[in-house]
Amino acid sequence: MIDWHCHILPGIDDGPPEMEQSLSMAGLLAQAGFSDVYCTPHLMRGCYDAGNAAVREGVAALQELLAVRGIPLKLHTGREYCLDEYLLTSLEDPLPLGDSLLILVEIQPGITADMVRQVLYSVVRSGFTPVIAHPERCRLLEPSLIPGDSRGLPGFIRNMFTGAQRSRPEQPSPDASGNPLLDYLRDLGCSFQGNLGSFNGYYGSRSRQVAETLRRLGIYDRYGSDLHAPAQAPAILGT
Ligand SMILES: [Fe+2]
Repeated sequence: MIDWHCHILPGIDDGPPEMEQSLSMAGLLAQAGFSDVYCTPHLMRGCYDAGNAAVREGVAALQELLAVRGIPLKLHTGREYCLDEYLLTSLEDPLPLGDSLLILVEIQPGITADMVRQVLYSVVRSGFTPVIAHPERCRLLEPSLIPGDSRGLPGFIRNMFTGAQRSRPEQPSPDASGNPLLDYLRDLGCSFQGNLGSFNGYYGSRSRQVAETLRRLGIYDRYGSDLHAPAQAPAILGT
């Protein structure tokens, strides 16, 4: 299994402050069945400003210690970019997800739909594919809600990965979201990354309901833990 969104690197953003905590998170992810983790610290001007070199160095240092500790996890570089007026400038020196042209982008509250359209259109024109981080937590992207159940982790996580990680949709329904912005982004070719914790209520019942609806619409093509600390693992990963 692949974790496409994880704040596992120490001392870079609001993830773990110390390397020992990063190692603990790595152990818990491996225990939950993950083989690959994309290390995606925030890049948010004025808040989390660490450069790409710090991310690359952090990945190399943690990977080395994983080998020493015998933790079977392959790390990849990445960032969680903030969709703001600086994003296009930041992409002049990009740090995509691993060797791909995928750019993980989060849409913060307060951003307008017009800005989302304009910025992500420009990102695509620049040759990148935006991966929308946890759309279920973004009010702008809420579809018409479909009541659904939630089946608990970690078995449900495994079902999602085997069923929806690489191919979409599970049940095609391309025109049914009821949200023009969501449809626009899908037509633009964006990828959508769901947070595992959204499906078990970690972020509240509304996020869970939206996540279930988006999953039924076949929106997601990848998932991530969005883990920031070892203490979150029991609730998010079931470990
Ligand atoms: Fe994140």
